Amino acid sequence: MNNPKNSSANILILATGGTIAGTAGAALKRDYRPGQIGIDAFIQQADALGLKARLTGREVAAIGSEDMHPDLWSTLYSACAEAMDDPQVDGVVITHGTDTAEETALLLDLTLPTNKPIVLVGAMRPADAVGSDGMRNFVNAIRVAADGDASGRGVLLVMSDRVISARDARKARTSGTDAFRGFPRDSIASVTPSSLDWFGDPWATDRPARFAFPDKFPTVPILYAYAGMQTDAVDCLMQDGTKGIVLAGFGEGNAPGIIRRRLAEAAESEIVVVRASRVDEGLVDRESEDDESGFIAARGLNPVKARILLQVMLASGINDPALIQQAFDRR
Ligand code: SIN
Repeated sequence: MNNPKNSSANILILATGGTIAGTAGAALKRDYRPGQIGIDAFIQQADALGLKARLTGREVAAIGSEDMHPDLWSTLYSACAEAMDDPQVDGVVITHGTDTAEETALLLDLTLPTNKPIVLVGAMRPADAVGSDGMRNFVNAIRVAADGDASGRGVLLVMSDRVISARDARKARTSGTDAFRGFPRDSIASVTPSSLDWFGDPWATDRPARFAFPDKFPTVPILYAYAGMQTDAVDCLMQDGTKGIVLAGFGEGNAPGIIRRRLAEAAESEIVVVRASRVDEGLVDRESEDDESGFIAARGLNPVKARILLQVMLASGINDPALIQQAFDRR
């Protein structure tokens, strides 16, 4: 079990790189290189602040998260799964680039149990930038991972003093420290280096992993809708081996008639088609055409996260559209 309140927690830090570990070499330079600062240096700085937690670091990678890939996901998953079973670990913090943090967070959320907190954290400004947000976010993430009330909420993401659940988290701005939003649910807690306030009770206490971690990630491309698109946009995604297509559609997951018809043909040939939206916020609910065409509605998941859920399900051998829809409907 993770630690009771007010005792010192053992937190495992898994470092992957990103801007949080990035430097520009000069505070006024715009360009910087992600993943430059080793996890030991980070831990030393955090320790010097007098945190009530014992930190152990492991450098899993030192990449910009645009290069995140299934092998690295697999390494992260195994390290987290081990930590979930290790009585010496109370919680895990993963430092991660912000660009694909929402995909990693959802993947781990779907494939790990909820008995201990797992918290992803990043930064929008490199460590040597004026007003860098990295150390504050890092300290906030440790505070969350060390809290006895943080488990039973699935994988969490901490940015700009907010705690957002993996299912809801999305990067909504290209720059600025307040870049993440939760949708449909916004922050589930507010955190600073000196305070942590949960806005409700845990909803997934001691829940086992929902799905197995994929041995192999099935091919599931994303089709981005645009005015005037033609069927070749779909055809070039329907290669041998394509198991699913996620539509990043207009508005509530819409696309031109010729595209919808082509996607219905794809669904008939056993490619699972999920309708999501290219709009940043809003639900994509089921419509009667989904029944006729065999489509799935992504509900609250954006296209990249809909893709992760679909890949995890297909890799587990689940391709019944009704079961897949249930997983999209579920909070
Ligand atoms: C990255 O995702 O690694 C680069 C951007 C960032 O961390 O904010």
